[in-house]
Amino acid sequence: MKLFSQVADLHECLDGLRAQKKSVGLVPTMGYLHEGHLSLVERSNEENDVTVTTIFVNPLQFAEGEDLASYPSDLQSDTELCEKIGSDVLFIPSLQDMYPEPILTSVQVDDFTKRMEGESRPTHFAGVATVVAKLFNITGPCNAYFGEKDWQQLQVITKMVRDLSFRVCVIGCPIIRHRDGLALSSRNAYLTTDERQSATVLSRSLQKASDLIRAGETSSVDIQKLIEREVASEPLVELDYVETVDGSSLIPVDEIVPGTRILIAAAVGKARLIDNIDAFTGITGFSS
Ligand code: PAJ
Repeated sequence: MKLFSQVADLHECLDGLRAQKKSVGLVPTMGYLHEGHLSLVERSNEENDVTVTTIFVNPLQFAEGEDLASYPSDLQSDTELCEKIGSDVLFIPSLQDMYPEPILTSVQVDDFTKRMEGESRPTHFAGVATVVAKLFNITGPCNAYFGEKDWQQLQVITKMVRDLSFRVCVIGCPIIRHRDGLALSSRNAYLTTDERQSATVLSRSLQKASDLIRAGETSSVDIQKLIEREVASEPLVELDYVETVDGSSLIPVDEIVPGTRILIAAAVGKARLIDNIDAFTGITGFSS
């Protein structure tokens, strides 16, 4: 595995590989890698000649008072995991490498970023879109792998790529979960034992909702109420939002139809956790 921290060195490496007509897969991450991240690397390995994994905790996507300073990090373990899973290139730029001067440009994807995460974290998606646009430009034409775990982020990036004609194919990959349903997340590291137990209510309530939908329920209001009740039964979990939206446009729907996605966010202790499901498919994707 080749390890780079400088943009220019990565450019040189990728220019060489492209001259040999190698296809490139990109897996952007903020590190503290788990099986969810690694599933993206595996998928990229299957579909490309070369996989580039990036680790960069992007300050632009954290607001004042969020967990930028305490975001978990273990670069040694991350490097070992990337090597083991077969990432060809690992790009770990420093803050100075990525933003050598104050950045004055921002990529804003309207509408898609107004609700849900965008409402709770108003500057978040501009930070995500800007750094992902930068990573796309640094990497060049590629297949880029993102987790469905961050469903809204996946739709925002897909829209950005269409709107700005990036030569990138965005590929969404299934959510990887613990056996008890909790979606793997670097932020799960913040949870105490009790909170970790309570946090399973997110996936549990989504599963119950999906069961009811498959039994014939079509009312978004009723499904949202069911999830609110379920989450309220866990005192350590404070619901931020539950929304039923069209999976692609993210527009809220009154009636649940195929293609509807249910998204949820909650505070559990110090962690802000998100999850989502396809309304008709329910929970899938358990890790080993
Ligand atoms: P991060 O939270 O590190 O996630 C990196 C990628 O891993 C994202 O595409 C995310 O959706 C995916 N991922 C996380 N948990 C997953 C799980 N349990 N199953 C499947 N995929 C999962 O998302 C970001 O970083 C950043 O916003 C980034 C896109 C890197 C821009 O800074």
